[in-house]
Amino acid sequence: MTKLETYITENEGRFLEDLKGWLSIPSISTLPEHTADIWRAAQYAVDQLTNIGFEQAGLIHTNGHPLVYGEWLKAPGMPTLLVYGHYDVQPVDPLHLWYTPPFEPTIRGDNLYCRGACDDKGQTMLVFKALESLMAVNGALPVNVRVLIEGEEEAGGESIEHYVKTYPERLGCDTVLICDTGMPAKDIPALIYALRGITYAEVEVRGARRDLHSGEFGGVAPNPLHTLAIIIAGLKDVEGHIHIPGLYDKVRKPTAEELKFWNEDPLHINESLLEEMGIAQFTGEAEYSPMERMWARPTLEVHGIIGGFVGAGAKTVIPAVAKAKISLRLPSHVQSKEAFMLFERRVKELAPAGVEVTVRQIHGGEGVMVSPDTPPMQAAAAALKETFGKEPIFICEGGSIPIAALFHEILNAPVVMMGFGLPDDNLHSPNEKYSLTQFYRGIRTVASFLQKLA
Ligand code: BES
Ligand code: MN
Ligand code: MN
Repeated sequence: MTKLETYITENEGRFLEDLKGWLSIPSISTLPEHTADIWRAAQYAVDQLTNIGFEQAGLIHTNGHPLVYGEWLKAPGMPTLLVYGHYDVQPVDPLHLWYTPPFEPTIRGDNLYCRGACDDKGQTMLVFKALESLMAVNGALPVNVRVLIEGEEEAGGESIEHYVKTYPERLGCDTVLICDTGMPAKDIPALIYALRGITYAEVEVRGARRDLHSGEFGGVAPNPLHTLAIIIAGLKDVEGHIHIPGLYDKVRKPTAEELKFWNEDPLHINESLLEEMGIAQFTGEAEYSPMERMWARPTLEVHGIIGGFVGAGAKTVIPAVAKAKISLRLPSHVQSKEAFMLFERRVKELAPAGVEVTVRQIHGGEGVMVSPDTPPMQAAAAALKETFGKEPIFICEGGSIPIAALFHEILNAPVVMMGFGLPDDNLHSPNEKYSLTQFYRGIRTVASFLQKLA
């Protein structure tokens, strides 16, 4: 056994305890009542970096939630790696569906359950532990490393965007490592070469000046909830086609190789998707394969509708206001801002006379596409092969990490998206979990990746 392997094996228990401590802090970025927790979670990451031996480890204040930064630049002549992760998490509702409380890390079988267990505290912690192990064993890292962790990823990531655009020289690097993605199954290691962008909007419909008795005014009063239903129905049809003029104009043509993989599905990804969702058939654009729909087509989803009476029993009311949260996922060549403008125009066009409709963008971020052929990607592939005993596949994913595109563009460095999440990790959903096997394998893989980078 190598010294590194011995160190990792001997410290697995403490690595897990360190992760549990971080997970216990409810750092929900989108809810203002959790601001103090956000700061505690950020400081926890700073302490990790300090203990590893990073310099300048500290918080970077922003207009929003703080960034965490640390650097170790004592390998002259060696490349510099920028490590990204996020310490914020999604809200936990609906609470009653959790088997154990969302911020009490609990082990059942091979899994650690907690909000953030995978996304992204588990995946960020495994990178920290790879760095710690290399440093402990060698007294140094094989390459120069900067670490930048944000606390607003799940809420749009405005602060990090501003920071990267304002101070690119502070983040100079040759490669970026993002450990915030997944793989199709435990035995199918993967590197991600494309993610979709997003534009997230709130549509508000206002009718009468106040809530109305539906008997007194029904027949002549506008109903904002019904108006919303009409708007939503006009945005996407039953075949999954989005009716927003111009939206599909810039969608890229997949390569022959992509189409072959998506259509033939040699790894039976479609089957596991159906099983994971517990449904019998897919919805959406039938003329495209499921993988193309998730990875390379724009999609539109309604996340919530607010308005009217939702209590037990009945109340005969025509609500004065209704709102809907709606987002579009965008393949990498479709710009977020442009998609929002097309969306806004279409919503206004669909709105019947007699109501006031406002459309507001809550956040947006660009998709990203990188080349699988760069030396850092090849180093990552070799590291995955070493720990998983199998060549990784190069695939896209449908989720969004808005800062990835900006790193690629502004820092002009290849972005390696190598994560260890699994389809059944319940991201953003009750009972989020992370596989302990994946956590420990991830540590070994990232440590090996750094050595290969050197
Ligand atoms: N880690 C995810 C993104 C992701 C999920 C990538 C699954 C690949 C596979 C990230 O934390 C996330 O959830 N991002 C948000 C971004 C949004 C709020 C701007 C998303 O995709 O909804
Ligand atoms: Mn994430
Ligand atoms: Mn997420």
